[in-house]
Amino acid sequence: MCGIVGYVGKQPAAPFILEGLKRLEYRGYDSTGVAILADGAFRVAKKIGRVANLEKEIGRQPLAGTYGIGHTRWATHGGVTDANAHPHVSSDGKIALIHNGVIENYAALKQVLLGQGFTFKSETDTEVLCNLIAYHYDRLSVAGDENRLLAAVRQALRHAEGTYGIVVMSVDFPGEMVASRKGSPLILGLGEGENIVASDVSAIVARTQSVVYLKDGEIVHLTEKNFRITTLDQVAVAPTVDKVTWKITDAELGDYTHFMEKEIFEQPVALENAMRGRFSEDGSTAQFGGLNITPHEFRGIERFMFCACGTALHACMVTEHMIERFARMPVECDYASEFRYRNTPLYRNTLFFVMSQSGETIDTLAALREAKRKGYQVLAINNVVGSTIAREADGGIYQHVGPEIGVASTKAFTSQLLIGAMLALYIGRMRDLSFGAGVRYVAALKSAPDLVRQTLLQAPAIRAIARKYAHYTDMLFLGRLSLFPIALEGALKLKEISYIHAEGYPAAEMKHGPIALISEKCPSVFLVPQGEIVNKIVSSMQEIKARKGPVIAIITEGVELPAGLADDTIVVPDCHEAVLPIVMSVPVQLLSYYIAVARGCDVDKPRNLAKSVTVE
Ligand code: G6P
Repeated sequence: MCGIVGYVGKQPAAPFILEGLKRLEYRGYDSTGVAILADGAFRVAKKIGRVANLEKEIGRQPLAGTYGIGHTRWATHGGVTDANAHPHVSSDGKIALIHNGVIENYAALKQVLLGQGFTFKSETDTEVLCNLIAYHYDRLSVAGDENRLLAAVRQALRHAEGTYGIVVMSVDFPGEMVASRKGSPLILGLGEGENIVASDVSAIVARTQSVVYLKDGEIVHLTEKNFRITTLDQVAVAPTVDKVTWKITDAELGDYTHFMEKEIFEQPVALENAMRGRFSEDGSTAQFGGLNITPHEFRGIERFMFCACGTALHACMVTEHMIERFARMPVECDYASEFRYRNTPLYRNTLFFVMSQSGETIDTLAALREAKRKGYQVLAINNVVGSTIAREADGGIYQHVGPEIGVASTKAFTSQLLIGAMLALYIGRMRDLSFGAGVRYVAALKSAPDLVRQTLLQAPAIRAIARKYAHYTDMLFLGRLSLFPIALEGALKLKEISYIHAEGYPAAEMKHGPIALISEKCPSVFLVPQGEIVNKIVSSMQEIKARKGPVIAIITEGVELPAGLADDTIVVPDCHEAVLPIVMSVPVQLLSYYIAVARGCDVDKPRNLAKSVTVE
């Protein structure tokens, strides 16, 4: 969380930084700020709220200069105020800093700095780090060190505990910047006569597609023409320059009103991209290029562990179901945040997976590191190429769905479901799943984009239903088996973007508590597929109806509900079990989206949330 951009070059810095911050706003939007270095002083503008607020202000009083830093904040230490917004400038006016992360020992450092005469205008941990750098910078100036800014940052970071992605400037070195990271992402963009540093590539691709992904513990000194990376211990690092494959237009709204809407409708293409080239020639199984584990080694695996957060955990839960169902192998899923502290006993021959759209979620990264520390091989299912999780995993599968900007994950989620189903097929075909069953399974997965296309055609009907239910304050989502995690996801989506209290439950479990909530004021959304348990789900619906609870039924074609049981019905195409959660996700996403729109909510930037949670 928090988005940061630094620019050194020949172009006006402020407009470029503001544009970059808009693209990073999904990382936090409590406040925005920019500091431009010109004529030997920092000119700082900061304001609570969105980038657009600050942009208006800067429009009235433009900040001239070609070196600068900017920040969009997701508040951790200190409330949402102008004073707490970044950049922070040291009390001696020498150093300006932007920061993504948390300095855990800030209180102790602050005491020391107060004793040294530094003063503070904000309640943030970041201002402490800024003054700490100024403290070292000042002492180094006495020694006349040439690379003073770099040396000061290096020294200050030795005393800082916690996580950070930082960019630092000094009034004495216009055209120079120092950036470093530990636990928060930071990427260098190498342009023509200009260099950029940002939290992710979306803030960079407007100018260059050549990027260097910084690693934890690295520090970079950059000017408009050069950059040099070292470790905090001053060991030189040879950079790897990567090419970003996506274009700036991939992260633009086009004709859509919201990114969430765009990304829901992009799902057919996203699914095609996620499966492209990943089926065997005989059409009976899946294949993955980046697992870095041979089929023989895979054959020796006896169980799987999946860790993730939020929506990605729901995708893991569906994957658990698919692997157990089609590969008949045991799988465990856990919240990454719990796993890292639970000290879970893991069996030998366990293959560990993490799933993360961004590849930067701190708890998921910590779970990966914990599993690796215990000696397990860890694979990642991840969307953002070059992300920290992708780089630290032993191998993995990229989702290839392009940038996802809406805070509520949609196309990344369904592509995770697809990859999970493909993984189940791959493992299943190594075991008992027959050639014929594999061929049918592959055909089903290949049909997923079209099934999603057909389902999307119902958007107008779903919008009409959504309007009917937009005024409720509580809602239940109920599903069974592979659709239980989709019920969880439906509830999560609804509460994230519309602020309606919603819970997801296994349909039969509803009797053990949630039924107490049921009245005419609490609707239930039931996910009802064809199959052996349809009658059981219908019984649960009857129980809700008997208590006057409104019922929205999302059914597959061919399901026949007793007359009058559902107040509203959405019908999706009948399909193979492996594809069912993908298809069922679509009406659930649309329902939440249209309810949030009907309530006038800021769908792409729900309050208090950030897309990429890089603090604990
Ligand atoms: C945040 C986002 C969720 C996302 C979760 C995990 O909470 O708001 O939409 O599912 O992080 O993100 P990841 O990038 O690890 O999939």
